[in-house]
Amino acid sequence: MMVIEGRAYYEGELQHLCLGVEGGVIKEIGKTLKGDERHDFGDMILLPGGIDVHVHFREPGLTHKEDFHTGTESAAVGGITSVLDMPNTLPPGDTADALLKKRERVSGKANVDFGLFAGVQSSGGLRDLEGYCHAFKVYMAESFGQPGIPADELPRLLQALKASARRLTVHAEDPARFRAVEEHGLRDHWSARPDQAEEAAIRRLAARENGQVHVAHLSSRLGLAALEGTRLSSEATPMHLLLTLDAPLGALGKVNPPLRTRVDTEAIWRAFSSGRIDVLASDHAPHTLEEKEEFSTAPPGAPNVETTYALMFRMVKRGKLSLKTLVSALCSRPAELFGLGSKGGIRVGGDADIVVFNPREVVKVRSEDLHYKCGWTPFEGWEAIFPKATFLRGVLVARERELERARKGRWLPFGEPQVP
Ligand code: NCD
Ligand code: ZN
Repeated sequence: MMVIEGRAYYEGELQHLCLGVEGGVIKEIGKTLKGDERHDFGDMILLPGGIDVHVHFREPGLTHKEDFHTGTESAAVGGITSVLDMPNTLPPGDTADALLKKRERVSGKANVDFGLFAGVQSSGGLRDLEGYCHAFKVYMAESFGQPGIPADELPRLLQALKASARRLTVHAEDPARFRAVEEHGLRDHWSARPDQAEEAAIRRLAARENGQVHVAHLSSRLGLAALEGTRLSSEATPMHLLLTLDAPLGALGKVNPPLRTRVDTEAIWRAFSSGRIDVLASDHAPHTLEEKEEFSTAPPGAPNVETTYALMFRMVKRGKLSLKTLVSALCSRPAELFGLGSKGGIRVGGDADIVVFNPREVVKVRSEDLHYKCGWTPFEGWEAIFPKATFLRGVLVARERELERARKGRWLPFGEPQVP
């Protein structure tokens, strides 16, 4: 048996414990355990591996931006041990054949466990796709590489979803509320895709929700209000939690939905830190610096998977966020909502996906220390606490911010998602 020792987040609190691991699974948890291989982390903190249910690793077809190796390398180093990858690739992951090919193609490159979203644009064919994906994704409005679903098709899609066991993540912006604006900066992008678009989209979803719908990257106070009292699950990203349209980022800060005002960012933070937003996800959406040169033509999106846990663990240490909320939003809730039963917590019988943090090691985020193919981050210069080590099913896959063992990732087993 292998033993990992440290201050583990177990049963809702940090406790000095030994985790006994065998066959990739936590077999025993105790004050003292004997084992032939020991990793003693002293008073460092052991948390469950993060589950990022929103990444764009760009395979196939867009691998000049990122690929499954670099994307999952960044994930492993950043303490993310499971990812669900989005379908807006070339070709898109929207047929059984494309998903099967994608799975085969990326299986040998995955450095963390992974699953796939199937893109859907109509109510037909959900059942055919179900066996090839972990969840569905629909865009209500056009975004990078994706047209929006026709407005009158959405109710039929939500109806068809009821016959499926999978969850549907929705990019919730209603294009009927978009404005034709010439875009030179972040404020223009915000005007072009205003808060009312998010609000209207969420209201349309809420009218027909059935507990299987997940609202991606919540970005506005109005969107939050529309979500209130519904059974929709929701997600926040580090960018919408920490940045506003006044950030000096130019096109690097151009994302969909847009960065908004301080009022919005603060409202999203308050809802998130008080546990009213289910999930923290990165929406890791890399594009090259060259593609981001000119604001008006720059594709929306920014890389985030490696810094998400690190930035938020820093917020925990600053007293702005509770550890409970962070672990819930990045580990246990995503596992529940997307049916990843063996993941999401430190417990006997669960996968030994463990991330080790030394809370005293506060560093500045620097692009050159990250592993993104695109070579930049919207959080340059921000304080963060990166993992010392990441274990994936008991294997030490990353250490001291470098990949230690490559290609240990596996296709995530399907499970039944829980209805909130
Ligand atoms: C996404 C991307 O680049 O794939 N960009 C983004 O701004 N979120 C597309 C999307 O999901 O909107
Ligand atoms: Zn996205």
